[in-house]
Amino acid sequence: MCFLLLVLIMALEIIYMPDVEGSGEVVEYLVELGETVEEGEPLIVVESDKASMEVPAPFSCILKSWEIELEGSVETGSALAQCEVIVSELAMSDAAPVVEAQISVEPEAVAEKATTSNATPVTESIVSIDMPDAGGDGDVVEFSLQPGDHFLEGDPILLVESDKAAMEVPAPFSGTLVEYLVETGQTISEGTPLVTASVSSGIQTANDAEKSVQSTDKVKGSVSSISDTPQPSPSPSPMALLSSDSSKTDGSVYSGPASRKLARQLGVNLEDVKGTGPRGRILKEDIKAFVKSNLKTPKQEVVSVAGIPSIPEQDFSRFGGVESKNLSGMAKATAAHMSRCWLNIPHVTLFDESDITDLECYRASLSAEALGIDKKPTILPFLVLVIAKALRKYPLFNSALHPDGKQIIYKEYINIGVAVDTPAGLVVPVIKDADKKSISELSETIADLASKARDRKLTAEDMQGGCFTISSLGATGGTGFTPIINAPEVAILGVAKATMKPVWDGEIFQPRKLLPLCLSFDHRVINGGDAGRFMATVNQSLSDIRHLLL
Ligand code: COA
Repeated sequence: MCFLLLVLIMALEIIYMPDVEGSGEVVEYLVELGETVEEGEPLIVVESDKASMEVPAPFSCILKSWEIELEGSVETGSALAQCEVIVSELAMSDAAPVVEAQISVEPEAVAEKATTSNATPVTESIVSIDMPDAGGDGDVVEFSLQPGDHFLEGDPILLVESDKAAMEVPAPFSGTLVEYLVETGQTISEGTPLVTASVSSGIQTANDAEKSVQSTDKVKGSVSSISDTPQPSPSPSPMALLSSDSSKTDGSVYSGPASRKLARQLGVNLEDVKGTGPRGRILKEDIKAFVKSNLKTPKQEVVSVAGIPSIPEQDFSRFGGVESKNLSGMAKATAAHMSRCWLNIPHVTLFDESDITDLECYRASLSAEALGIDKKPTILPFLVLVIAKALRKYPLFNSALHPDGKQIIYKEYINIGVAVDTPAGLVVPVIKDADKKSISELSETIADLASKARDRKLTAEDMQGGCFTISSLGATGGTGFTPIINAPEVAILGVAKATMKPVWDGEIFQPRKLLPLCLSFDHRVINGGDAGRFMATVNQSLSDIRHLLL
């Protein structure tokens, strides 16, 4: 059998900027030099002051050179790129003069191709896409695109929810969205027009045009032509069921169809990706970098945030002037630790008020000089001692839950952490063996640790081994707050500002000084009853410090 060579004759074509209002800036190349781009696939991203759009290739070609620069300005008719396109295919029996690509084919097929080959000019059509058969009615839940967005065949157009499932309606062909014809919440059924889209068909061979017509016939009912110009070749895709871990095409995420497609291919949720493009646009590079960094992250870290929706980034500069400052290392570490504690521990906070009238009288009678210390003790050293004694009485509060959740570890030592507010952030130095120290010693230890914290001189040793934390905002104010447990500890005491209040003694109102206390506890380890008893003991000791001697 004799084989002939099919020779593709290539021509250089310029791709021009389509009709847009005003001018825009080129913000991203989406194709690399030498890469083949299919008709309708995005070439570049252009941003104007109104919108961002992906400019599609009007025909399939190989990119040879860019005629525009990144960040350069473009307008209707600007030359964008030079491309190589197939203008005709000839059957040759011998060596060809210019051979760009060679394919062996059967002689009959070659003859047919050679006779029907004929280039036609680029055409633009506006078409509507109708709802395909989804097995019943559904409500429009979410739009996947924005007007001006370019989409590829198979890209989701919108999300529909029936009483059975949530489904993405895929585009039956590539194009650019003009507008949605439905609203969110609207109930739609088979045949409801969903969107209008503009589609361009590039230089076509007669064969392609013929195929296009045939394909259009095939999807009649789901694609209806508004203009009379030729249609591109649509091919209906089946309805895609949403899977929980696939990339979510949320309209609020700022990215183009090409990035969305890549995210879907890589199983990335775009809401987790930080966009580095203009105005936070998510680029393909951002998705690749996200995947790379996730591969490097220990699995446990990834698991701990899975399923928690992230807070979408906002461009605050749209509303006025802004300034960004980097967080200190300490602030970042605190933020990470607080999130970990908050997410892992079921917190409950018990609020109460301790009568510290007598304690305050006693405190007022003290003198630093007589005690041989620099500064008269504040309420805090008394609180530390009261808590230390209560921890001895209720060892559950001096415990830790094993990470496997199967064991409670009781600690025999009593080390109490004290939250210290410093210009660089919050730190929690630890008072070791707090139950064995006097008020003077506790007062000095707290002053020493607080000063080291503010001078950033705390050692790792100073901050390790805590069993329970006290966070006192008493000097600044507040009537109460919900402190976050400092894991692996199981409880924390928040202290707000003590104030004079009238307290009914059964006969008259007495002026008493009340100290608001807020005890947060880990409900996996401690029950409300335990917390109530612990708090009662603390109240009793604070209202009559003679209990500390018992
Ligand atoms: N009610 C009323 N007055 C209070 C009080 C309270 N609960 N707690 C403290 N005060 C008083 C003190 O008695 C002191 O007054 P005095 O000198 O007349 O006795 C004054 O407020 C200043 O106290 P302060 O210097 O803050 O000492 P302290 O021993 O109470 O606290 C630190 C020491 C280091 C804990 C404290 O300075 C600190 O940094 N607190 C912030 C902790 C924090 O930010 N926690 C929040 C975590 S979310």
